Amino acid sequence: MMPCRVMGMPGLIRRRRPRGGADRTPGSSFCEVPIAMPDKATLTIGDKSYELPVVVGTEGEVGVDISNLRNQSGAITLDDGYANTGSCCSAITFIDGDQGILRYRGYPIEQLAIRSTFVETAYLLIFGELPSRTQHAEFRALLSQHEYLHEDMRHHFEGFPPNAHPMAILSAMINAMGCYQPALLNPDDPEHFTDAAARIMSKVRTIAAASYKKSIGEPWMYPRPELQYVPNFLHMMFSKPNRPYEPDPDVVSALRMILILHADHEQNCSTSTVRMVGSAQANLYASVAAGVCALWGPLHGGANQAVINMLSSILASGETASAFIAKVKDKTSKIRLMGFGHRVYRNYDPRAKILKEACDKVLAKLGIHDPMLDLAKQLEETALRDEYFIQRKLYPNVDFYSGIIMRAMGIPVPMFPVMFAIGRMPGWIAHWREVALSPNPRIYRPRQIYVGPTKRDYVPADQRPL
Ligand code: SDX
Repeated sequence: MMPCRVMGMPGLIRRRRPRGGADRTPGSSFCEVPIAMPDKATLTIGDKSYELPVVVGTEGEVGVDISNLRNQSGAITLDDGYANTGSCCSAITFIDGDQGILRYRGYPIEQLAIRSTFVETAYLLIFGELPSRTQHAEFRALLSQHEYLHEDMRHHFEGFPPNAHPMAILSAMINAMGCYQPALLNPDDPEHFTDAAARIMSKVRTIAAASYKKSIGEPWMYPRPELQYVPNFLHMMFSKPNRPYEPDPDVVSALRMILILHADHEQNCSTSTVRMVGSAQANLYASVAAGVCALWGPLHGGANQAVINMLSSILASGETASAFIAKVKDKTSKIRLMGFGHRVYRNYDPRAKILKEACDKVLAKLGIHDPMLDLAKQLEETALRDEYFIQRKLYPNVDFYSGIIMRAMGIPVPMFPVMFAIGRMPGWIAHWREVALSPNPRIYRPRQIYVGPTKRDYVPADQRPL
């Protein structure tokens, strides 16, 4: 029987005390999930054939295990952009890109987005189960306990120029934060892990709000422990010393939903970065700080900012949706329809569906008519009728509508990737922990096929052309 190691299923006692602390979910541990093994895979190279084990996940996904391929055959596989390569077995999030399915620990995103809270969803992702009321209260209290930044961290902010991108500040400050808790840099103790996770999840709000206040030359607002996670963030962003900000309840629930929708998405670029860095046994702060840098890219979490920039430039130019789509289809333009397309979804991103509905509700509630929303809908309608997009299975992704809602809330555009990072923090923490708890932790180190110059001898400078 070919086992596929999956955390969170009752099973074997772990062989060794892994880092990241013992798994606290009752009855969960790494296990051998005995499954019916379909036929082995046979690979033939030249006149030799090699049998490779096949693993099947709990949702029926099939993977050919090539862990031993190089030892057997001397050959490796090549997969540009890892589009066909699984880096691990994971028990955290399931995506079916063809059906447009997204589930966190088995729970459909459509249910969590409406019925859960961001703190509860974070607990679910990190520890594997929905918290009991006691666990929820304890976790929420831990987040409140850790919402302040060390006063000395103010000085770090003074070193940034006012127009510093908030993602640069966020990544730097997460690593700086770790310096104040040296014991948590090696969270082998379960309490240390939970403490570090809570500190990072809680303080990223304070860092984000502080970077915004610095950019507009306003004083920091201290967190208010009586406020819940999202209202507290909005308070730190928009209150002034002489004028408290009371957030509209619909804005709070819309932002809570946005954070839930962004909380995890299996092996995306930034999460794979966190897993890669964590696989070297780098601490949690360093690993999520690296995740922030990967997320910043406009092809990834920076796309929400790129979408708004794209929509505003189309509006400024007076171009029609059809004219812009025609430019996108012309490869020489090198223009992409930002917020469209996805490596995994070959159908509508379920998060985009939820966000599109939320756009209408939130803007109506705030009494805002945003021409960007009208334009976004026209672009979607035009694209989804067009053979170029249909043939390539390009649909709106999570970034296409999220920025329009955040803009309506008054969140500045450069902060959009930061909002994505705040949402993704529990997912990164959960994946770092899954790597740390792996019964056979191995550093991530892909191979390559070398295509550079073959062996040649050194030529002294005086024998080279001037
Ligand atoms: C996120 O991985 C995740 O899960 C990410 C994420 C998460 O939650 O972590 O879901 C969040 O990052 C969402 C994606 C945000 N990025 C964007 O919106 C940027 C615009 N989209 C793309 O650049 C692109 O679609 C990617 C990066 C998202 C996916 O790229 P792939 O899978 O490498 O696809 P590709 O670039 O090879 O494109 C395949 C074809 C190409 O055309 P041909 O060469 O076949 O002629 O589709 C075309 C591309 O030119 N194409 C697009 C397009 N996206 C793909 N053409 C126009 N506009 C686009 N947006």
